[in-house]
Amino acid sequence: MADHSHKLAAEAEKLRDQLNRANYRYYILDDPEISDAEYDKLLRRLEALEREHPELATSDSPTQRVGAAPSEKFGVVVHRRPMMSLGNAMDAEEMREFDKRVKRLLKSDAEIEYVAEVKLDGLGIELVYDDGRLTVGSTRGDGINGEDVTQNIRTIKSVPLRLQHPERGKIPRLLEVRGEVIIPRSGFVKMNQEREEAGEPMFANPRNAAAGALRQLDPKITASRPLDAFLYAPGVIEGVNFKSQWDFLQGIKALGLRVNPLSRVCNGIDAVLEYWNEITEKRHALDYEADGVVAKVNSYALQEQLGEVSRSPRWAIAYKFKAQQAETVVEKIDVQVGRIGSLTPVGKLRPVQLAGVTISNTSLHNLDEIRRKDIRERDTVLIERAGDVIPYVIRVTKEGHPRAKPFEMPDKCPVCHAAIVHEEGEVGYFCVNANCPARMRESIRHFASKGCLDIEGLGDKLVGQLVEQGLVKELDDLFHLTKQQLAGLDRMADKSAQNVLDAIQKARKTQLDRFINGLGIRHVGEHTARQLALKFKTMDALADASEDDLLGVRDIGNEVAHSIREYFDEPRNLKAVKRLIKILEVEAPAEVEGRGALRDKTFVLTGTLESMTREEAERKIMAAGGRVTSSVSRKTDFVVAGAEPGSKLKKAQDLGVRVLDEKGLVQVLAGTN
Ligand code: IVH
Repeated sequence: MADHSHKLAAEAEKLRDQLNRANYRYYILDDPEISDAEYDKLLRRLEALEREHPELATSDSPTQRVGAAPSEKFGVVVHRRPMMSLGNAMDAEEMREFDKRVKRLLKSDAEIEYVAEVKLDGLGIELVYDDGRLTVGSTRGDGINGEDVTQNIRTIKSVPLRLQHPERGKIPRLLEVRGEVIIPRSGFVKMNQEREEAGEPMFANPRNAAAGALRQLDPKITASRPLDAFLYAPGVIEGVNFKSQWDFLQGIKALGLRVNPLSRVCNGIDAVLEYWNEITEKRHALDYEADGVVAKVNSYALQEQLGEVSRSPRWAIAYKFKAQQAETVVEKIDVQVGRIGSLTPVGKLRPVQLAGVTISNTSLHNLDEIRRKDIRERDTVLIERAGDVIPYVIRVTKEGHPRAKPFEMPDKCPVCHAAIVHEEGEVGYFCVNANCPARMRESIRHFASKGCLDIEGLGDKLVGQLVEQGLVKELDDLFHLTKQQLAGLDRMADKSAQNVLDAIQKARKTQLDRFINGLGIRHVGEHTARQLALKFKTMDALADASEDDLLGVRDIGNEVAHSIREYFDEPRNLKAVKRLIKILEVEAPAEVEGRGALRDKTFVLTGTLESMTREEAERKIMAAGGRVTSSVSRKTDFVVAGAEPGSKLKKAQDLGVRVLDEKGLVQVLAGTN
């Protein structure tokens, strides 16, 4: 007996350790090591242990509070009303039990009216509006104390700094609203691409990226990240009386706050379960990550009657989606060399099916990440595919046998064998050999890619061969290829050789921003390339620009300016660019100043256009001085709806934003010439 209770005490202690560590990883490092489902499992086990053996409970047990203390980087905001967390249901059965409990507590047999909402997988925040003005924005923190991230939250475009007057009703004296900050998937993918190109460590998932962005000390960095927010819960409110959750959601929407359009009133728990099924199916089509559905008793009077236990309301519950995880073996850890020479470790996986796709590779991001998770060759790992985003390794579930040695970054480039450069204290490892074939291959691939010269038929395999055979050593070598050279390559018939040559010739005619983007200058992506093209008009002028000149360009800071200068100061780069200038027929960007009829007009595109690609449309709008953004808000001037438009169209209609069809867009553009 004594032995048994000893064992239980040891188990409880171990669970507490695991949970504390998980909390720390989640809240302080923004880098969770275990999945939410696993966390819940551990927490439930500990709760059960402490319930059955109250002598095992300690006052500092993770069951006694939610989350962890805020970091010291920011000031503290005390939430006037604690920000609660939600109990979880693991399956439909548990949802029904929840519903029964609600009815029992309310001593009622009648169907309960719920509001079903999407459970967003982002970062909990609270906004405070005093007399309609945003005064404080904070993170959830541990629910009692959050971090003061007002300056960062103010950079989120969908968070109004002032509430708008509702058509009916008034602006409340005080409005505290809670919600979730997220990074849309599209923005996340783009952001990671840019980070990879810049040799910066990538984020494992949008949640981490959002957390990182929100907790930046420099709001300028936050502003450059594609953050978005949805609001869904009340804090303290004075001066307006909401009677139900639905009433509240409609009310804050009328005040100009962003609410999730998928929320729905459900009569009875079956309707909630149906909602869960629906959302489960369409979760991948959403442009943000969701991890489940939340059901809330609609009536605030009933909510009050139900009350709460240990900081979870008895009137709400979360029903998470089934996790998309799988186990597989890391057969090998390879190192890939990027365009600017950064090394990225990549796990070659035993192919495994996950959420309908075969996964055989996963980026392991960087050495620190591998060390932390202690991932080694032959280990079995748990991988998760969060939405459409590239899968990542959560943890090792079974060590390989015999266990491989810990992974080390190579000290020589795996491709050209040049020495690898690594700055002490930095995350990155670089091959600095500008002649490295791996780097050349990536550079050419980039140069030929869609957003750059868009050379059709110049695929990865072909580029690889061209570099391996020494046929292309510099970007401009592409334009001197002969049919004979091409036809000598693997699987290259005369006809296809000619097609490639034609495509290369066709690509000679290009635009300045594509050309700039194509050079692959560190920190210069599509957007920056456009700004540079508009400002400098010719490649020669850009190559001559001083850092000060460059700093005068919209959205360009020190780091970017420095990187551009560094690029052109390298004689080899400059020579290649000069040769390219002679070969290419570069179209200067359309003049904007003075007659940019669309100056400062904001456009959002949705659906498929017929007469032009989305890219061309963006280009034309920008050439006329307009801006293209990804989400619709009151500040959007036009939404262009092509075939099969998405939810953006509905949003535009809801907000009264002007909608153009394709013809309308063409007309608006024509008017700018
Ligand atoms: S309501 C009274 N609604 O889930 C409960 N939470 O474990 C307050 N979350 O920290 C939360 N989507 O960050 C609520 N539609 C939604 C949500 C949601 C995501 C998060 C929130 C909270 C956690 C609760």
